[in-house]
Amino acid sequence: MSYAIVGFGKIGQALAHTFARRNIDVTVASRRPPEALAPQARAIGPTVVAESLREALEADTIILTVPFGEHREVAKALPSWEGKTVIDTMNAFPVPEELDDLPSSAFVAKAFTSAKLVKAFNHLIAATLAADPIVEGGHRVVFLSSDDEDAIAPVAVLAKQLGFAPVNLGKLNEGGALVQARGRTWGKLIFEDLFKKEQ
Ligand SMILES: NC(=O)c1ccc[n+]([C@@H]2O[C@H](COP(=O)([O-])OP(=O)(O)OC[C@H]3O[C@@H](n4cnc5c(N)ncnc54)[C@H](OP(=O)(O)O)[C@@H]3O)[C@@H](O)[C@H]2O)c1
Repeated sequence: MSYAIVGFGKIGQALAHTFARRNIDVTVASRRPPEALAPQARAIGPTVVAESLREALEADTIILTVPFGEHREVAKALPSWEGKTVIDTMNAFPVPEELDDLPSSAFVAKAFTSAKLVKAFNHLIAATLAADPIVEGGHRVVFLSSDDEDAIAPVAVLAKQLGFAPVNLGKLNEGGALVQARGRTWGKLIFEDLFKKEQ
């Protein structure tokens, strides 16, 4: 599996810390050239490497962490998303009119046609996500939801490798509704910093 983080702001850097802590390779990219991101990437750790957006999108698994309104720009960067997994960390803020009653990740999935999309890593603030997820033997919980059942298992494996305890909430408009954020309306699990003793 190869991993890329697209968007190297607060959440992108927080997740890069989690990869660096476990010595897992990850590329990072944004609209800026890799030279602009490289010093920050190097400062996080040797397994974090800045690349151009085009190069980063060669990874099997793309962790998407750009402002919600920008996801369609990223989607346009590849002619096809077939075979890719997209991990959606985004919250719908501001809420676009076209969102209607859709879960935000279902809206995102429409832009990434044929990708496997999993919502994850969106319910905690960046500083919490960047911190060591193992505290007193407990693993920080991250919630996974998707309308594609098969897509969840490999993302759960990654979350465990990073030291988190993944909890599968099921479909986006069912359990996934607990981690939906629309503007200032938050699902019940948003900001809940929970730990699980056993993985
Ligand atoms: N901050 C939090 O605590 C938090 C918590 C949970 C979820 N989230 C969600 O996570 C996402 C990122 O939030 P953030 O706080 O990390 O934002 P941020 O600090 O503003 O970072 C956004 C990043 O996206 C990049 N970017 C913007 N447009 C892009 C595009 N079209 N293509 C590629 N890269 C692009 C920006 O870099 P360039 O300008 O160089 O392109 C920047 O690195 C948001 O959707 C937010 O809702 C944030």
